[in-house]
Amino acid sequence: MAKHISKRSKAISPFHVMDILAQAKALQAQGHDIIHMEVGEPDFDTPQPIIDAGISALKDAKTHYTPALGLPELREKIAGWYQQYYGVNVSPERIVVTPGASGALLLVFGALLEAGEKVMLADPGYPCNRHFARFVEAETNAVPVTADSRYQLTAANIQQNWDDKTRLALVASPSNPTGTVLTRDELTALSTAIKHKQGTLIVDEIYHGLTYGDFQAPTALALDNDAFVINSFSKFFGMTGWRLGWLIVPEGYTEVMDRLAQNLYLAAPTMSQYAALAAFEQNTLDILEQRRQILQQRRDALLPALREIGFDIPVKPQGAFYLYANCSTLLNEKLPESMALSKHLLKNAGVAITPGLDFGDFKAEQHCRFAYTTSEQRLLEAAEKIGQVLKTL
Ligand SMILES: Cc1ncc(COP(=O)(O)O)c(C=O)c1O
Repeated sequence: MAKHISKRSKAISPFHVMDILAQAKALQAQGHDIIHMEVGEPDFDTPQPIIDAGISALKDAKTHYTPALGLPELREKIAGWYQQYYGVNVSPERIVVTPGASGALLLVFGALLEAGEKVMLADPGYPCNRHFARFVEAETNAVPVTADSRYQLTAANIQQNWDDKTRLALVASPSNPTGTVLTRDELTALSTAIKHKQGTLIVDEIYHGLTYGDFQAPTALALDNDAFVINSFSKFFGMTGWRLGWLIVPEGYTEVMDRLAQNLYLAAPTMSQYAALAAFEQNTLDILEQRRQILQQRRDALLPALREIGFDIPVKPQGAFYLYANCSTLLNEKLPESMALSKHLLKNAGVAITPGLDFGDFKAEQHCRFAYTTSEQRLLEAAEKIGQVLKTL
């Protein structure tokens, strides 16, 4: 038995969905067909131009460390992307290339939070955020959010819930698990309210690019020079396994991030950084646009199918690849909460979903998350199978 495990490590819990995954694997090993809707990454492989650039980098023996802040060419390209995609001017000096958005979260929390200070976040939200906070001996100020605010923090939340220890507010737009997007006005109102409290806004923009309909998620960089913006090559660019993301810091913060990066992980993976140079090429962007349209079609097919069988999804998500559903009307004495329902659906319908408990505490037992990271046909098959099982409850 491991004897010496720190309190901070003990406080970091595994994902509840791991239970579901283990059972799914066991059922698959017995020959059952399982439809996976619990996975938080696109089913598409990395676009070929990026893979080719990665292979060339390896052939050219690009196998040494890069500067801790990232390859200068990549920082330039990311700056160019902000100009091209949002029309926003960002100096490459402010861009830090990181091992995924995860690395960026670690840098931000490490650089900005003292032990005992708090970061405000929405509940439900991305589960690792509170664990990153715990890892730097900080705390969370988790604010319950509902469909009324499209599950996003509001300026009123900042006014009412900020306390003496709160220093930061972290929002994700589009959000995981709800897929909802903050408008420019909402972001501006948040930024203003946070400034009144002498706090700092952090926006996780990891699902940018994956928005559906005729609009783009606004970047906080366009309206708040003091905000920290986190992004990643994982989701829109389809590079989860390459472990590459970035962080944009306000002027004056590059040096501290450089020192932390040098000490915590030296640099993001070199071959991934060379591969990512091809991420903003037009041939890659064409592939990504096709995928975005496919994801939109999946959302548009799955949303009515789930509503039809009794899942309450009050807000149509405009981004990411998740549907966050209230399942309370489907619960009963035998299946009193969403974890039990998820297990039942896995066993009887062969469909794996994520219980709400993975995203926080607020009404978590009445919610679950569906990821549309598999084909439309399989998604509709899943909805059909779930519908059949629900009829027998
Ligand atoms: C909201 C959000 N932020 C950050 C991450 C971390 O992503 P990565 O480290 O792969 O860039 C994820 C992954 O699912 C996420 O959903």
